[in-house]
Amino acid sequence: PKNIVIDYSAPNIAKPFHIGHLRSTVIGGALYNIYKFLGYNVTGINHLGDWGTQFGKLIEGYKRWGKEYNIEENPIDELTKIYIRINNLCKEDESVLEECRNNFKKLEDGDEYCTKIWKKFRDLSLKEFQKVYSILGVKFDSLNGEAFYSDKMPEIVELLKNAGKLEDSEGAKVVKLNDNMPPCLIIKSNGSTTYATRDLAAIMYRARKYDFDKAIYVTSYEQILHFKQVFATAKYLGLDEKYTNGLVHVPFGMVLLKTGKMSTREGKVIKLEDLLNEAIEKSRSIIESKNPSLENKEDVAKKVGVGAVIFNDLSNSRIKDEIFDWDIMLNFNGETGPYVQYTTVRAKSVLEKAAYIPDIKDVNAQKLNDKDSQNIINILYNFNNILQSVTVKEEPSILARYLINLAQSFSSFYNNCHIITDDKEVQDARLYLTYMVQTVLEKGLNLLGIQVPEKM
Ligand code: ARG
Repeated sequence: PKNIVIDYSAPNIAKPFHIGHLRSTVIGGALYNIYKFLGYNVTGINHLGDWGTQFGKLIEGYKRWGKEYNIEENPIDELTKIYIRINNLCKEDESVLEECRNNFKKLEDGDEYCTKIWKKFRDLSLKEFQKVYSILGVKFDSLNGEAFYSDKMPEIVELLKNAGKLEDSEGAKVVKLNDNMPPCLIIKSNGSTTYATRDLAAIMYRARKYDFDKAIYVTSYEQILHFKQVFATAKYLGLDEKYTNGLVHVPFGMVLLKTGKMSTREGKVIKLEDLLNEAIEKSRSIIESKNPSLENKEDVAKKVGVGAVIFNDLSNSRIKDEIFDWDIMLNFNGETGPYVQYTTVRAKSVLEKAAYIPDIKDVNAQKLNDKDSQNIINILYNFNNILQSVTVKEEPSILARYLINLAQSFSSFYNNCHIITDDKEVQDARLYLTYMVQTVLEKGLNLLGIQVPEKM
């Protein structure tokens, strides 16, 4: 009964929920499900980016032009516009920048007006993020974001000071680190705390609240240095080694479009909700052309489209950059989500047609001595080991590859062995094997966060 804390997704308030956050959500969500399935006590935390000096700017922009923007209707887009506009003004006019800094200071001190507006931005943004979470079927146990730690940082600063580790550096306070790492910035020269300080406060809080054996952080590899610094600094907080040794960063690669990197700066950012809806739309049109009379088309399109995106994300080792290509991820014959879903549905329909009621007592295992059946039995037997190694390496792709292997092996069995035959004993044994394959494929997909439609 070990305690596992997983910090994942963590989009930033008033900014778009981008494709990197999708990777974090999907990888973290799969780890969450798998740990839980193995019996660990798991807490999923969405460490929202809801604090920082940018809120001083946003509040200033909102004060000046809030009425011109329909932030209720379209919060992220409108807030982004306000942010760009106020940023430009700050560049022209130093006094505006000063106002923004003041706002953030007031927010930190709990000023009523600033807090009210900040809360409004947070609620509206969350409501929009929630659309993506509900399409993905992801839930969190805690939404304590960076702001939650705003009153918990003085203790951290105090502890580091008492440990003799806090040093002055050009007006800022830093902790110097070994291993040729740059120092960890704790307090900026303007007196404000940093992303790292909040992460240190979060480690302290989570150690006390969840008594974690392992605390996992899922972010892109761009934050490798950040977590190295934070984990090294955490050693000076006087925490039990159990906690500092349990900190694990789980980095992942970038998402590349066929045309290059998806990034905000290059203006090529793709909105997640649009992307998922496009996946659903594309699946719908494949269904229309291949099987227009299918029942529950809407439900199938959703499960297949979203499943394709998730599986694409999880099927290669996480640290590799991911190529985002619709044709590859929606290919029903490739190593894809739709292929594994389709194989599951096919196994299900064999069982349905045979009106099969599984009962291990009816199975004569001697009848499964052909190569294909033996191969499948070996793979099935390995399921638990596979899940264990996912948790050792924090690598859900191990499960995704396993499911592809199982699906391919079943396809070969299906082609080579007649499941429905005159020999009742052979048939029962093969049906039972089919039933086990279907069960493991479906369970495996569910653990990755993918649903299986009834029919396809
Ligand atoms: N909000 C951050 C980002 O968008 C990710 C936060 C990850 N979690 C953490 N505890 N630092 O990059």
